[in-house]
Amino acid sequence: MAKWLDNAIFYEIYPQSFQDTNGDGIGDLQGIISRLDYIKELGCNALWINPCFVSPFGDAGYDVADYYTIAPRYGTNADAERLFKEAHKRGMHVLLDLVPGHTSVEHKWFKESMKAEKNEFTDRYIWTNNVWDTPENMAYLRGIAERDGSCAVNFFSMQPSLNYGFYKIDKPWQQPVDAPGPVATLEEMKNVMRFWLTMGCDGFRVDMAGYMVKNDEDGKGTIELWKKVRRFLDEEFPEAAMVSEWGEPDKSLLGGFHMDFLLPFGPIHYAELFRGKNPYFSRKGQGDISQFAENYMKSYEKTGGKGLICIPSGNHDTDRMARTLSQEEMKMAFAFLLSMPGAPFIYYGDEIGMRYVENLVSVEGGFNRTGSRSPMQWDGGVNAGFSAAPKHKLYIRQDESADRPTVQKQMEEKDSLYHEVQKLTALRQTHKALQSNGGIAFVYAKENAYPMAYMRDFEEEKILVVLNPSEREESFEWSGKAGTIIYTQGDGIKISEDKITVPGGSAGFIEICG
Ligand code: GLC
Ligand code: CA
Repeated sequence: MAKWLDNAIFYEIYPQSFQDTNGDGIGDLQGIISRLDYIKELGCNALWINPCFVSPFGDAGYDVADYYTIAPRYGTNADAERLFKEAHKRGMHVLLDLVPGHTSVEHKWFKESMKAEKNEFTDRYIWTNNVWDTPENMAYLRGIAERDGSCAVNFFSMQPSLNYGFYKIDKPWQQPVDAPGPVATLEEMKNVMRFWLTMGCDGFRVDMAGYMVKNDEDGKGTIELWKKVRRFLDEEFPEAAMVSEWGEPDKSLLGGFHMDFLLPFGPIHYAELFRGKNPYFSRKGQGDISQFAENYMKSYEKTGGKGLICIPSGNHDTDRMARTLSQEEMKMAFAFLLSMPGAPFIYYGDEIGMRYVENLVSVEGGFNRTGSRSPMQWDGGVNAGFSAAPKHKLYIRQDESADRPTVQKQMEEKDSLYHEVQKLTALRQTHKALQSNGGIAFVYAKENAYPMAYMRDFEEEKILVVLNPSEREESFEWSGKAGTIIYTQGDGIKISEDKITVPGGSAGFIEICG
C-alpha cells in the first residue's frame, strides 16, 4: 500500500515563496504547477506542500480557518485539483499538510465554541469549566469569549487545541476520548481527509501528530486515535500515504503512519548533523556521529527493522543548511541524505544552497524561521525570477547578495551542488538498496571519529556507503569483498586488503559482492 513511497524522494514547498505567477509577490499553486518539470528533473518524484488553506496566516497557514478551501492568495480548489493531475501525469505524488491538532481562532468552529449557549461546537475545543480554572501544563486563552472558561492552545496563542479527549482524566472538564465531543472532532478530521483524497491528493504530512490526545504521557491514547484513522484509510483510501511530524517512529508506525520525520527534538539526534557548533558534516571534522548512529539504530530496531524515519535537508522551521555548511560540505550532506532509509526530503532551495537571510523582521509568525522562508532564486531576472511584483511587495525579502545562488547559475556550472544532488537522486532510483525500505547497519560510526560508513541492503544487493566530511584523510578497518564503486565524491576512496582510506572531503559508494 502506498507502494510509491518505496522510492519516493520528496521536495518540500513553502507555497508562499516558491513561484508567483500573478505578480502579487506571493507564490501560488499555478506557480508550483509551472515548476513541476524542474522538480522532476532534479529527481524528486513527490511533493509536500505546507498548509495552503484559508487562514489569517498568523503562523504561516498552520492556523487554519477553513480546512476545505484553498486560500485565495494561492488560487482555488480547482487549481489544487489541477496540481494533483499535473503531478500524476509526470508520475509524481502530492502530500498536503494536515493540521489536525488546532485551528485558527478565526475558524467558524471556534467562533461557535466561544458562545455561552451550547451548540454543536461547544466541545470541539478544550475548555475548562470556568475562566478561573486553567489547564495545567498547557498554554491557554481566556477572557476573550462570552463563554465562561479557559481554552487550551497547542502552539501560538491563536491556535486553540481541538478536543480529541484526555487519556488520563483528573479534572471534571477533561473529556474521555470516546465522549461525543472528541468523537465528533475526529469524524470531522476524517471528512477533511476524505475531501482532499477524493480530489486526488495522495496523502498527508501530519502536523504535530504526536500531540492529539492530552494527558497522554507515553502516547497510548494518540496511537489509538491514529489506528482509527488507519482503519478508515484502509477501507476507503488504501493508497493514501501518511507521514507524521512526531519524531518517534516506534509510536507513529504503530499508529499506522508509513513514515515519520527525524526532528530537531525527539530521541534521535538530528540537530548535530548539519547545524549547531560542530556539525558532523563540517570540514572542521569536530563532530560526533556515534550518538546519532546509536539512537537511530535503537529506534530502527524498535520498529522491527522498518525504521522509516525521513531525514530532511531542513524545513520551514529549521535554519537553512547553508547557514552552517558550505556548498562543498552540503554535497556530502546530500550524499548522506540520499542514501539513508526512509524517504529523503529536500527543502526547496537547499538543492542550490540557498542561504538563510539574516536580520529579517518576522513574517507571518516565522520569527527566527523567517530567514529560511525567503523566495526561491530561479535566475538572473527580476526578483530572481520569483515574481514580477515590485521588490517591496515580495512575501519576504530575498537574499540580496550579488553572489546568491540561482537555479540558472547552478545548472550552468558543471560542478554545482545542484548537479551533485541530481546525480545522487538518479543513483538512488537505480538501486533498491539505497531506497526507503532497504536495510541499514552502521559499519563505522565511532565517537568523535571520521569517516562514517554504513551498509545498505535489499534482497541480494549490498551497498557500502563511506563518507568523510572532515578535511583530514581518515581510514577504518575493512576486509569484505568489494565490487564496483558506483559513486565518488572528491577524491573517492581507496580500498586495500584490510582497510578503507578516505581523503578529506571525499566519499564513495561501493557495491559489495557476496
Ligand atoms: C509544526 C509546523 C510549524 C508550526 C507548528 C504549529 O511544528 O512545522 O511550522 O508552527 O507545527 O502548527
Ligand atoms: Ca501570487
